[in-house]
Amino acid sequence: MNARRLMPVADENGIKVGTRNLTQHPQRSNMAVILKNVVPFGRSFDEYRHMFNLTSADLAGNILGVGDGPASFNAEGTQQGYSITSVDPVYVFSGSEIKSRFDAVVDNIIHQVKATPTDWVWTYHQSPDQLRMNRIKALTHFLQDYDSGKAAHRYVIGELPQLPFATRQFSLALCSHLLFLYSEQFDQAFHLQSIQEMLRVAPEVRIFPLLTLQLQRSPYLDQIQQTLSELGYAVSVQTVGYELQKGGNEMLVIKDCK
Ligand SMILES: C[S@@+](CC[C@H](N)C(=O)[O-])C[C@H]1O[C@@H](n2cnc3c(N)ncnc32)[C@H](O)[C@@H]1O
Repeated sequence: MNARRLMPVADENGIKVGTRNLTQHPQRSNMAVILKNVVPFGRSFDEYRHMFNLTSADLAGNILGVGDGPASFNAEGTQQGYSITSVDPVYVFSGSEIKSRFDAVVDNIIHQVKATPTDWVWTYHQSPDQLRMNRIKALTHFLQDYDSGKAAHRYVIGELPQLPFATRQFSLALCSHLLFLYSEQFDQAFHLQSIQEMLRVAPEVRIFPLLTLQLQRSPYLDQIQQTLSELGYAVSVQTVGYELQKGGNEMLVIKDCK
């Protein structure tokens, strides 16, 4: 499916800053103007661990991060000896391009966070300024690893709803701050197709958070849970030990028990 889609581009804390169009097979040449709309914020390994309740057994597997962007989950996890692959359309850009974009937008984003104090829970990051420091730290880790990780095929250019991987290549697929968060931009059919595609490449999928940018539960969640259950998957909503968006402390877990 090569249809062009309207893409959300927002910082990872849920502040929408624009939209962009991408083909399903992004090429470097037609993405030159796209980066100016991307907010390359990413989370750390520790945040992923909390967002997805990752256990030692989970981490011992072969993990795929879908839409990892400039998160340092892969960089830090690889350093600790784990097997992690990240797939994202933003990997068409160089590290310096991603960093320039981060530098251009970080102040404005933190300003927006400060302007919406009731939308956030600070138990993890403590404050907007500390959040900024944590995002810089994650980006720095990511950038240090990016070129060698790309060469090692740990950072792969690609995007939902079709992934460039073999069936059951992974033991677990994670999707942080993409599906459900952008329910306004991606329709229910895209969500279902994307989740089924992740279930093709891994027998277990975890998605976090389940809130939209407006801090509402995704309107697709119930129907998607029902459809996947009817298809024979074990589906559950689990509470996790991470909350930045107020109320955003749940993940969806889908397992293929067939
Ligand atoms: C808000 S960021 C989250 C980054 C990272 N997962 C984290 O939580 O730190 C959303 C990411 O999804 C990526 N993305 C957007 N559309 C995508 C698609 N169709 N398939 C895979 N990734 C996509 C963006 O490029 C961006 O890096």
